[in-house]
Amino acid sequence: MTQPTIESILQENRTFAPPAEFSQAATIGSMEQYRELYDKAKADPAAFWAELAATELDWFQKWDQVLDWQPPHGQWFVGGKLNISYNCLDRHLTTWRKNKAALIWEGEPGESVTLTYAQLHREVCKMANVFKSLGVKKGDRVGIYMPMIPEAAIAMLACARIGAPHSVVFGGFSAEALKTRLIDAEAKLVVTADGGYRKDKTIPLKPAVDAALAHDGVPSVENVLVVQRTHEKITMEPGRDHWWHDLKAGASAVCPAEPMDSEDLLFILYTSGTTGNPKGVVHTTAGYNLYTHMTCKWTLDLKDTDVYWCTADVGWITGHSYIVYGPLSNGATSLMYEGVPRPSNPGCFWDVIEKYGVTIFYTAPTAIRAFIKLGEHLPNARDLSSLRLLGTVGEPINPEAWMWYHKVIGGERCPIIDTWWQTETGGFMLTPLPGATPTKPGSATLPFPGILADVVDLEGNPVKDGEGGYLVITHPWPSMLRTVYGDDDRFRRTYWEHIQPKEGQHFYFAGDGARRDADGYFWVMGRVDDVINVSGHRLGTMEIESALVSHPAVAEAAVVGRTDDLKGEDVFAFVTLEGDYTGSDALINELKQHVAKEIGAIARPGDIRFTDVLPKTRSGKIMRRLLRNLASGQEIAGDTSTLEDRSVLDKLRGGA
Ligand code: WT7
Repeated sequence: MTQPTIESILQENRTFAPPAEFSQAATIGSMEQYRELYDKAKADPAAFWAELAATELDWFQKWDQVLDWQPPHGQWFVGGKLNISYNCLDRHLTTWRKNKAALIWEGEPGESVTLTYAQLHREVCKMANVFKSLGVKKGDRVGIYMPMIPEAAIAMLACARIGAPHSVVFGGFSAEALKTRLIDAEAKLVVTADGGYRKDKTIPLKPAVDAALAHDGVPSVENVLVVQRTHEKITMEPGRDHWWHDLKAGASAVCPAEPMDSEDLLFILYTSGTTGNPKGVVHTTAGYNLYTHMTCKWTLDLKDTDVYWCTADVGWITGHSYIVYGPLSNGATSLMYEGVPRPSNPGCFWDVIEKYGVTIFYTAPTAIRAFIKLGEHLPNARDLSSLRLLGTVGEPINPEAWMWYHKVIGGERCPIIDTWWQTETGGFMLTPLPGATPTKPGSATLPFPGILADVVDLEGNPVKDGEGGYLVITHPWPSMLRTVYGDDDRFRRTYWEHIQPKEGQHFYFAGDGARRDADGYFWVMGRVDDVINVSGHRLGTMEIESALVSHPAVAEAAVVGRTDDLKGEDVFAFVTLEGDYTGSDALINELKQHVAKEIGAIARPGDIRFTDVLPKTRSGKIMRRLLRNLASGQEIAGDTSTLEDRSVLDKLRGGA
């Protein structure tokens, strides 16, 4: 399978109208209805969101001001009080949903647990009380480093319940990466598990926490709460480490939800950027609650009869917004699966869909490409007729993969929502509404009502249809990131200063390039900065370079993305060695391993090439464009006149 080129994507003109049956039952069932909402929101965004906030969320106290916009800082529903855990749990307990499945979970080894809203509420209250007994107070940060088990969602909701912002760190990140994030967030408590299951193996988690905290590595951490999952032997440090099942036994199931200010910090989630350490993206309570709620309702078209499954990990924003908060705020049934396709069961996803009668399935293009490779016979051997809606997220989807998804998984009857958004946006920004929007394979189509998006040049002027430009959001929205934790300067620099529009205008710069076609449809082309997207995961080239340079053999490193059939992009590293070292296969493996240890397996370079020199400009900047060409085996394209030493190119080619 080949990756889409700009040319192939622009030639894509197949259009798929929403099936009539789907539209009839959908919450938003026609383009007229979408346009009406979009226009209404555009005319008066504050009034639009205020009306929804009043009808869709429960409040302890109503707000005084809908939007306080002091660019680039937006505050929403100022003066209001609410609690997202209350909106996700308590308010459903007074309805028939009390005994409805909130979470359906299946572990990789095959066990399964269903928690009704009443049961989930009890678990969350108990964990919240345990947090309190460990000295966690409103405003204290809690690190969550967990496998995909119900306790991960329970811990998040328990944090929200007592107003302790969480910072979930993906369980695939290394001890080093965990440590950096816990230090930045100054976490007081870490919630973890002994380990988890992945690809028929156990993944140790508690040992990584031990390594991160060793030698007072994260001075702010006072306690560690450990969920027993794999029953493997781990060490428990007396006074610091506590088993969840021990403390739970004595915990009360009564814990009223703390009234939180609309703008109180709900969570920090770290994501990679162009420079420096990962950024702590800050989300606050009310706007995030409202936006994830509305996008679930209109884009996922969530209904009480749905069994909805998002295959992401709770360690990413997709898991936060579309496994936990958005679906539960709607009173939906959200399925959580610990496993991934693996040699012992490559068709496990189709088993899960058949077993639970999944109706809405949301996954990533990289997963779809892997399914294609594994073969149609796997999904064809299962009954997937319960499915009514499919979704994708994480990277541009190539039209071929879209068509396969549509035919083989969707049986040509399920609309596909290609949702473009980011950790920073909190929720879907560009997306079809499945009962309304005709879809085109490879396009995330149109903005969600209330979102004003554009494709512009560096001065903020809209570019012509079909021309490339920068994707921007031109008006604040409820779930926008509020700042970068502890670094507001970086927030301004990264998102608000790249595009310099006219006086008085402030455009959020997403870091993606895009085009718009004659129908106004957006086609997201990928990152325009030094961020690579490996299997839908964002990695900063500089982070990987720093990891490489921290190895004694490495003098200098330059990392670029290389097109990969399965992962979308793969990490390709050019490395110059310190004098006493010579390149070898053994050293390549050692360096790959080193990066995995420093960051996590997702960052492990696919390829490393040793070189004597790196191509640099006269001012000493590494010319990544040239390296990208070399990595993909392409001819060097474009201008090389700024290259300081032209013989470098021949040397690099020679080493190919
Ligand atoms: C970046 C954000 C949002 C959850 C997953 C990733 C890319 C995301 C799409 C899409 C084209 C997409 C962008 C974006 N991206 N969805 N549907 N089409 N590109 O969140 O780690 O914050 O990454 O993922 O490049 O900027 P994230």
